[in-house]
Order: sequence, then structure tokens, then C-alpha cells
Amino acid sequence: MGNNKSCIKKKPQDGQDFRYINGRRYHNEETASYLLSSDMEEIDRQQLQHYCFKHIFKCNVSAPIEKKLTEGSRVLDVGCGTGIWVLELSSKYENSEFFGVDMSPVFPSQIKPFNSNFIKANVLDGLPFSSDEFDYVHLSFLNASFTDDQWQNIVIPELIRVLKPNGWLEFYEVDVVQINGGPLIERISGSLQKLCYNAGINPRLPNLLKQWLSPYKCLKDIEELVAYPFLGKWKGEIVDELEIDNDLPGKCDDNDDTGRCNTGCENFDSDFSIKNTNVKSKYEVELGLLLKEVIKMYYTLDAENLSMCMGTSKEVFLDMLEECFEREMSEYDTRMKFMRVMCRKDDTIKK
Ligand SMILES: C[S@@+](CC[C@H](N)C(=O)[O-])C[C@H]1O[C@@H](n2cnc3c(N)ncnc32)[C@H](O)[C@@H]1O
Repeated sequence: MGNNKSCIKKKPQDGQDFRYINGRRYHNEETASYLLSSDMEEIDRQQLQHYCFKHIFKCNVSAPIEKKLTEGSRVLDVGCGTGIWVLELSSKYENSEFFGVDMSPVFPSQIKPFNSNFIKANVLDGLPFSSDEFDYVHLSFLNASFTDDQWQNIVIPELIRVLKPNGWLEFYEVDVVQINGGPLIERISGSLQKLCYNAGINPRLPNLLKQWLSPYKCLKDIEELVAYPFLGKWKGEIVDELEIDNDLPGKCDDNDDTGRCNTGCENFDSDFSIKNTNVKSKYEVELGLLLKEVIKMYYTLDAENLSMCMGTSKEVFLDMLEECFEREMSEYDTRMKFMRVMCRKDDTIKK
């Protein structure tokens, strides 16, 4: 997490891509609410996060657009960061044309697949594209980026505008509040939530997306996919595979009778439900270790602000993190809620 409200609101430096605050690099957009830094440490963390988080849903895309991507589509990734998602998909789907947009130019400028394009733009000034231009619009991990008001009045209307009729919109987000949290993670994530709310950011964003999309008559097939992966070192029983339970919360409605999804989210199954508390699959256990590292890194990078917010020294905060991620989480079976929310633009109604 980036910085507290007073720091990030410092005046932008004219003509620069970034501004520097307390030794860290941040975006330089006056209107933007984004809290995280954009320096090398944060960029490394985001790369690692991408490789780790995609395994929660076992794919990069959950909307049913595999065929369209193979045949040739126009795809937009909003807030693309390092461009990692665009780079992976443009290498796989050579007939499609990919665009990534971010206000901080941390994406590649020269060495990239021929069908990938990156543009520096602040979404809050409007997306630099015509209406009805994209078959698929994707956003991931923008929950520290916009206030509720910005989401509802600027970002979502812009996403819908650039989407072609029949095109798919997909969000991938994580809820900051843990499930089965012990006392340490409750305190640590409490301070993160406080930092977000102080900056006008809602850390519970994923739970609001469906509610914000539903009033649009031009959107249909709104669907949520939910997963609750465990984070930590699992010390309980481990099995090769978990039995599939079709009532699990992560179940996609388009599953066939094996519980596997028939849309783009191939192989999405019950590994990450909250029901399996005593036994975990090998897959879940291995991913739990990776998730623990990535999320711990997230808190470590912002130790300065979070410890201040919690009223402890940075050293005490780092000790708490260690204890929390290395011991408490496995004891409590701590989980996080990851959500993919997707919908389609109606091709019969204008708005
Ligand atoms: C946490 S990163 C996620 C990056 C990428 N989507 C991923 O999943 O790896 C959020 C990104 O959103 C970008 N962002 C935040 N507010 C923005 C805005 N107003 N306009 C454009 N990009 C923005 C940030 O610069 C950052 O690169």
C-alpha cells in the first residue's frame, strides 16, 4: 500500500511521469486516487502477484471468450500496470489486438509482441478510445485506485462506453478483509483498511461491483465467481485432490456435471471453498505458500505507513507480520476472498 492521504495528495511535479515521496516513487496525476507506489519493489511484487493470483481461478480469463480471442478480437486491459496480463495473452492469441492503459508508464515501450499496444492515460480523464471499440475489457487489482464515486460516475460508464455490443467486461479483485482471521491479521488488515478509508478508497470493492453494474439496462449475464484460497503453511492433512462439491461458493453456473467450468475458466473447481477446513489438496497447499509470500510482501512494502497507523514502531510491526504469516494463519486457516465479476453488453439496447 502506498502512502497516507497527506503524502499522496502532494502537488504533482510538472511534466514528470512520477513524483518521489519519502524515497518512494508514485504516480504524478493530480486527480488520481491510487495509493500504491510505482517503484521497482512494487513492480516486482505485482509481477509475482500476477503469476500467483492467476492460479486461484486456474486461468487468466473467466468470461466465455476463448473462441473470440482465438479468431481475433480487440481487447483492452485498464490499469494494466507492468502489462504482464497483456503480454501473456497477446503471445497466446496472435489473431487478437491487445491494448493496455495505465497512468504510470511502467509497461514495456519497445520489446513486446507485435499485437500488443500500451498507452499512458489517466482513466479519470476518459479512456482514449472511441465508443463500442472492444470485444473484451479487463481490469485486475484496481481496488486501491478509485473512490466509490469515481468508480460509479466515471470508470464504469467509460468501460461500458468503449465495450462493443455483445462484448464482455471482466473484473478480478480481492477483498482486503480476511476470512478466519486471527488477532494479528485482524489488527494488521484493520490498519490497512483505515489507510484506505482515510484516502476515500473502499477496500471492500469486489463486494460492490455487481451492485454497481446491475442498474445498467445495457448489461446482462452479470456473474460472480468467488474463491477463498488459504494463505499460509498448511500443517493439517493433505490429499492429492479434493472431492468436488457442486454447492460450493466458487462454483461457476456454467459447470458441467464434473464441476468443471465450460467457459474460459477451464478447470475451476472446489479447491478454494471455505468448507474444506481440515483437509487441503496439494494444489491449495502449494498455492497457500505462494499467496502467503505475496501478501506478506504487500504489507512489508508499506510497513512505514501501516505501523504508524497502528501506533507501533516499524520493527514491532515487522515482527507481528512474521508471526502472523508464518504461524497464526495456518493455525486459524486464514483465507481471502477473490472475485471475478463479469457481464456482457446487450446488443439490442443502447443504454
Ligand atoms: C495494483 S496495480 C494492478 C496492475 C495490473 N492490473 C495487474 O493486475 O498486475 C494498479 C494499476 O492501476 C493503475 N491506475 C490506478 N489509477 C489509475 C488511473 N486513474 N488511470 C490509469 N491507471 C490507473 C496504477 O498505475 C497501477 O499500475
